[in-house]
Amino acid sequence: MNKYHVKNNFLWGVATSASQIEGAWQEDRKGMSIADCLRYRPKIDVKDYKKVNKIDSREIERAVNDPSTQKWAKRYGVDFYHHYKEDIKELAEMGIKAFRFSISWTRIFPNGDDLTPNKNGLDFYLDLVKELKKYHIEPVVTLSHYDMPLHLVLNYDAWYEPKVISFYEKFAIQVIDYLKDYVTYWIPFNEIDSIIRHPFASAGLVEDRFQGKNFEEVIYQAMYHQFVASSKVIKYCRQTYPHMKVGSMITKTTVYPYNSNPRNVLKSLKQMREVYAFSDIQIRGFYPKYLLDELNRKDIHIHFTEKGLKLIQNYTADFVAFSYYSSVCTAVDTAGLKITQANTTSGVYNDFLEQTEWGWQIDPVGIRISLIELADRYNKPMFIVENGLGAVDELTSQGEIHDRYRINYLKKHIEQVLLSIQEDGVELIGYLTWGAMDLVSASTNQMSKRYGFLYVDVDDFGKGTFKRYRKDSYYWYQKLLQNPYEIDSALFE
Ligand code: BG6
Repeated sequence: MNKYHVKNNFLWGVATSASQIEGAWQEDRKGMSIADCLRYRPKIDVKDYKKVNKIDSREIERAVNDPSTQKWAKRYGVDFYHHYKEDIKELAEMGIKAFRFSISWTRIFPNGDDLTPNKNGLDFYLDLVKELKKYHIEPVVTLSHYDMPLHLVLNYDAWYEPKVISFYEKFAIQVIDYLKDYVTYWIPFNEIDSIIRHPFASAGLVEDRFQGKNFEEVIYQAMYHQFVASSKVIKYCRQTYPHMKVGSMITKTTVYPYNSNPRNVLKSLKQMREVYAFSDIQIRGFYPKYLLDELNRKDIHIHFTEKGLKLIQNYTADFVAFSYYSSVCTAVDTAGLKITQANTTSGVYNDFLEQTEWGWQIDPVGIRISLIELADRYNKPMFIVENGLGAVDELTSQGEIHDRYRINYLKKHIEQVLLSIQEDGVELIGYLTWGAMDLVSASTNQMSKRYGFLYVDVDDFGKGTFKRYRKDSYYWYQKLLQNPYEIDSALFE
């Protein structure tokens, strides 16, 4: 029997985000977040991401005026706010070494521009990290994960407005100071590149609020503000708590050429630059020429400040974190080719791969390709902070969930990760699956797109007991975690 070896501080674990698990959307003085405005639309094809997540000022008004939770899954989540002790105990029994979660900004500053923080919110996260430490679980904290105060959208133009950088900085420093004795790993922004694909969820930008402006330019301006804000977090940690590690995080979608036609190869190379532009800025410390040239061609002008660019240059990230779910192909001529989905984007269907019920193609070798690409590009420690399968699970009358498909997905991906560590010289801090308990889908706002090891009995409309059940995949990951640094290859058969 072969064994795979990883370092004995390798962080095996799970990942979540506040708006997708916590619920309790109005409790203990929590303010309204942009996530509370996104509702599930049962009549729209969930594969049509643009339609399913459409947002405009009317939609926001509707959300503000409707205090119910029924249609707004992110308002109830899986009620982690009240179940966190039970959930962490379950996950500790599964054997995790790390738990990634995000901070709900509106629990700390309900409006974003409040003068003083809400102690209830800070105490919730302090209790949470203490609970994790009780089981020797390392917290990995994302400061902003598709979740900002709605007040900043309606009164400040969200991340387009430079002032929001200082609100975020104040929020970040409060949280870092409060949790300083417990948290080493920080991620200032989840998938910093995602602002391009969903400007509202990532940065609170609503197109109809920018009449007369080039919305793409608005997005790039807001993105620049997020880069500056991120570097401010790095600066603060480096100067105040030098032991802390702060990461850049991108959505690592791999784009293959559909075939060996050099024109398709060139197209895929260019599309990959669109993915790397963001980590290039955060790891190398400057806007790459290829991005600046592209912006010029599009007549997009970012208002840079000397101070901001200096911050980006001097405070680059310590590690490269990424999410990985699937890959797509690209071709110059797509006529007659089948199109498929991949985490809020789409591309040409790859005949060598299978796909999930949401049309995301399953590509385990792609995670290894991603590791090699990122290692060669940055020569920095990497951290896989999301990888998993969204699927419909069925709870049997015996309270069991036979999710063999999820076990297969994990087996194949984890094996490639281990091979990459063993054979490709990749330096990896850890591997976190997406979902711990089930959680609300970020893109479709459904509960029924499940990712967890723990099934949560609640449906797309908030109905259910919220009781947790261990899935078969729970027992599979538990087996792997019994011997986490010397892993039997038999586990992947
Ligand atoms: C990642 C996000 O891109 O994809 C998560 O960081 C999200 O928040 C995950 O949940 C899976 O996507 P979805 O749309 O299936 O929830």
